[in-house]
Amino acid sequence: VNLDAQHPLASGLTAGSRLIRAYQGTRPDVTPVWFMRQAGRSLPEYRELRVGTRMLDVCLDPELASEITLQPVRRHGVDAGIFFSDIVVPLKLVGVDVEIVAGKGPVLGTATRTAKDVAALTALDPAILDDALAPISEAVARTVARLGDTPLIGFAGAPFTLAAYLVEGGPSKDHIHARTLMHADPEAWAALMAWTAEVTGRFLRAQVLAGASAAQLFDSWAGALSLEDYARYVAPASALAISHVRDLTYLERTEDEAADPTEIRRNVPVVHFGVGTGELLKEMHTIGADVVGVDYRIPLDEANRRLGGVVPIQGNIDPALLAAPWPVLEAHVLDVLERGRLAPAHVLNLGHGVPPETDPDVLTRIVDFVHEHGAA
Ligand code: CP3
Repeated sequence: VNLDAQHPLASGLTAGSRLIRAYQGTRPDVTPVWFMRQAGRSLPEYRELRVGTRMLDVCLDPELASEITLQPVRRHGVDAGIFFSDIVVPLKLVGVDVEIVAGKGPVLGTATRTAKDVAALTALDPAILDDALAPISEAVARTVARLGDTPLIGFAGAPFTLAAYLVEGGPSKDHIHARTLMHADPEAWAALMAWTAEVTGRFLRAQVLAGASAAQLFDSWAGALSLEDYARYVAPASALAISHVRDLTYLERTEDEAADPTEIRRNVPVVHFGVGTGELLKEMHTIGADVVGVDYRIPLDEANRRLGGVVPIQGNIDPALLAAPWPVLEAHVLDVLERGRLAPAHVLNLGHGVPPETDPDVLTRIVDFVHEHGAA
């Protein structure tokens, strides 16, 4: 399926940006940089806007979601916006009883623990789902109209991370009920994963169709799994989720020296990120991702080695060091850039989200520093 001619990738607006070049595996002039959770509580302008509102209501208000997405782009000059939403938004849109509790995370009204619970999940009528996603498409459209040539990254939770919330009923350290279910009732587990893959895949597709130039799948809790369980019970569903955007393409026109335009058909780049997933990196690439996001637990040169030296990587400043004195942080950023040089391309990011208490000026300083010193 061709993206609309007005889409920022198809129109050429973002196709040549540093971020998209790097995601496609070529090194741009300088290393691009953005931060997971750049939109949110580290910004005073965000906290001001959020007074008296509920997180999920904000996510479904196109004007607010768009404004919050733009705040860190304006302030820090990052190379990408990440759409302001949450991984549980599509669950809410299909009628799951879920709220986001401050300081805790998503909390479900009921836990989905048995085959009967799984069977009781809403039947997914594609037409109804598309209607439900209208506020998301609207928020993305407004955002890309304001971002100009800065690409917007759309995102979704991976099926396992969403299933973990559904089965546990809320945040959990070891996801023990989810891990029990996959072995105790593999059929119910497969049905649950197929359901979450469809819900989250359509959420991601809506964002790309509305103008996002890249897509990131967050499998925040996959690090709780063994490689064997990941490959068998999780990876197929993640591949299914990504398949919802894998068919979306655009034509890129490049003028060569003889002024002979050549056309290349390109896919929308997909990034796959997980926490504590050093042992799973290769599998996480194999599901059909173009780029692998690396958390702060393994250095990028080692991640690159595990990926065979052929995959663009994203990461992996340790968020803890954002509060360290600048010379300590600067040395760490230089080390991350240095190790990232071994990969085909590198997008600088954190190894997980921005902690809420982060001084936003530190993030701006990193962006300036990387743009000055991060010659690719
Ligand atoms: O810049 C961005 O990344 C903004 C968009 C974004 C949010 N959540 C906004 C948010 C993204 C990409 C997410 C993804 C998300 N949500 C993940 C995957 C990434 C990760 O961190 O591993 C997960 C696991 C969730 C579920 C979730 N939502 C958690 C664990 C929390 C934190 C709860 C808390 O208060 O500590 C949320 C809430 C949430 N999502 C907030 C924001 C800005 C905080 C709510 C607030 O501002 O009141």
